[in-house]
Amino acid sequence: MKKRALIYMLCLLGTLCTLSAKDKKSTPLYKDAKAPIERRIDDLLSRMTLEEKVMQLNQYTLGQNNNVNNIGEEVKNIPAEIGSLIYFDVDPELRNGMQKKAMEESRLGIPIVFGYDVIHGFRTVYPISLGQACSWNPGLVEQACAVAAQEARMSGVDWTFSPMIDVAHDPRWGRVAEGYGEDPYTNGVFAAASVHGYQGDDLSAKDRVAACLKHYVGYSASEAGRDYVYTEISQQTLWDTYLPPYEVGVKAGAATLMSSFNDISGVPGSANHYTMTEVLKNRWGHDGFVVSDWGAVKQLENQGLASTKKEAARYSFNAGLDMDMMSHAYDSHMKELVEEGKITMAQIDESVRRVLRLKFRLGLFEQPYTPVTNEKERFLRPQSMEVAVRLAEESMVLLKNENQLLPVARQKRIAVIGPMAKNGADLLGSWCGHGQDKDAETLYDGLLAEFGKKAGMRYAEGCKVEGDDRSGFAEALAAAQWSDIVVVCLGEKKEWSGENASRSTIALPQIQEELVTELKKAGKPIVLVLVSGRPLELNRLESQCDAILEIWQPGVNGARSMAGILSGRINPSGKLAITFPYSTGQIPIYYNRRKSGRRGNQGIYQDITSEPLYPFGHGLSYTEFKYGTVTPSATRVKRGEKLSVEVNVTNTGTRDGAETVHWFIADPYCSITRPMKELKYFEKQQFKAGETKTFHFDVDLERDFGFVNKNGERFLEAGEYEIIVKDQKVKIELVE
Ligand code: BGC
Repeated sequence: MKKRALIYMLCLLGTLCTLSAKDKKSTPLYKDAKAPIERRIDDLLSRMTLEEKVMQLNQYTLGQNNNVNNIGEEVKNIPAEIGSLIYFDVDPELRNGMQKKAMEESRLGIPIVFGYDVIHGFRTVYPISLGQACSWNPGLVEQACAVAAQEARMSGVDWTFSPMIDVAHDPRWGRVAEGYGEDPYTNGVFAAASVHGYQGDDLSAKDRVAACLKHYVGYSASEAGRDYVYTEISQQTLWDTYLPPYEVGVKAGAATLMSSFNDISGVPGSANHYTMTEVLKNRWGHDGFVVSDWGAVKQLENQGLASTKKEAARYSFNAGLDMDMMSHAYDSHMKELVEEGKITMAQIDESVRRVLRLKFRLGLFEQPYTPVTNEKERFLRPQSMEVAVRLAEESMVLLKNENQLLPVARQKRIAVIGPMAKNGADLLGSWCGHGQDKDAETLYDGLLAEFGKKAGMRYAEGCKVEGDDRSGFAEALAAAQWSDIVVVCLGEKKEWSGENASRSTIALPQIQEELVTELKKAGKPIVLVLVSGRPLELNRLESQCDAILEIWQPGVNGARSMAGILSGRINPSGKLAITFPYSTGQIPIYYNRRKSGRRGNQGIYQDITSEPLYPFGHGLSYTEFKYGTVTPSATRVKRGEKLSVEVNVTNTGTRDGAETVHWFIADPYCSITRPMKELKYFEKQQFKAGETKTFHFDVDLERDFGFVNKNGERFLEAGEYEIIVKDQKVKIELVE
């Protein structure tokens, strides 16, 4: 009996084994949606050849490249095993066709992850990131990124190369438009907001995409504002200024990072072991992957680091760069490098694991294809347009409003002048995805719709954006003479900012300044509306204009928002997230600079003021906000204790409005010199006329009073600190 039972048991076991083997054969573990991701990866890795693994670490392009700076052949005959593709098309069909090839013609059926630059909107274009930062409304930015994610994912894009969080001190650099200004803390807050907006809680949702923090790191420090060039960054500055937003973005869960082009004091970002491996992966524990910027691996040759593309591949990969975007360095040389022992299989497995992890998280193995929908279901939906309107309104900054010229009384005769007045295209800005000129209402049409028949309106172009044709000046002057108020719309072409768009001066072309001088002859009040991708040098224009509204490149709904501010329907609430220098010669100029050894009139410019024209945080409202006394919960604290600070703010004017309170700290004496002040928190609140609200800042002593040294180690020293709000300073003593 015992023997028979044993035989039965053995048969049963045998059957079970055969069944599970058969099962394994028909549905491998990596295809089991219920299995844990890490086990699925283990299983898949165990089945992959070296060649298949290497292909996962490459990104090519699919379709016609629409980034003019990335000069490269369209990739033909893309292998079914490719890891990733940049997807330029607006509909999912092309993607789905290629994905079918990957799923059906590759041995293991590993889906491709499709990436694209969705920077400030996919089709519903909202303001450039620099403008978004001036809204001081991260919640709204998160919503805008969610709209972009929905439009992109439903169009076949799984992964956006955004947000750009390069802290920028030099507005000559065209890419200043793409980031959130000059302050590390601000960039961090908006990094987290956009990561949450893009990714949501579930990357596999049909309306979310993976985010990519870029360009890691220090790209914005390019010398003299020239794109792609050398950056001289001390270790201290790396930790003080450039790394903090990345740390916040990583903590917020950003799926990927893009390594930067720039040479960081001798070690280019795309071959930098310290930043990619020691800091990002080892210290911060990032479990996603790093993709190179376009062609950055190969460019190590141009930078003088690698003498061949093979050497470049070795440097980059050994430094921690997982995926090669369009250098064809990994696909050509990685196998050889493994065979030569220059790269280990363990390293390859680790990078492939990171790439596969994202594909599993995106749900691509279960849902490789994008459902085909019509454009109406995806784009410019009313709720998406609503977000674009609000973000445009909140990002605009009223720089000047002499004698309360604005808002404009409705019965006036308005002359609308300038090369930006009937120009929808430039309102979209650089990197406008699949945005279309026709989606953007012109500033003239926005004003017409806003003021309707209640105001007379006359238009004259006056001049082009650049050149020396003054033949339109007379007509413009006549319109100004006819009017009660002149709205002159000046600015930059959208190609003047973004990638490879550095400028030697941030002044507008002379012809535009001359147009204003001409209009001044009419003796009418002048409102200057500025469309730009960077702060501008305004000192000559400033004295000639009564009011100035910076609207940045505000996206599809900027015109109506601008007109609403001019009419008073909207009370402006934007404040600068970047300093407006008095002149180009002052660059770099930013609020959180360190102190000088000499005071008073020493160390200042002899020919111009050393102060900026408009400082960080500047921005006017149509109402008045009166600040009460800044009150801390204690003026003496011990390490580990809690500290909070409050201030009451009252809207003493007659209009509803919004106010942002910026909380700065200063550490007057420290074993490493500190900036004059550093932003540590901000909050924006809406007010009814006459209303008082309390703003509250919970200070975390380690985080807010502490500082990092050149190795990124955090310290908190006993001594005196200051909490600064507007012109108030509160002293706090930290005792041991
Ligand atoms: C840019 C990146 C961009 C990439 C892909 C590069 O030239 O620097 O910001 O994501 O191209 O288009």
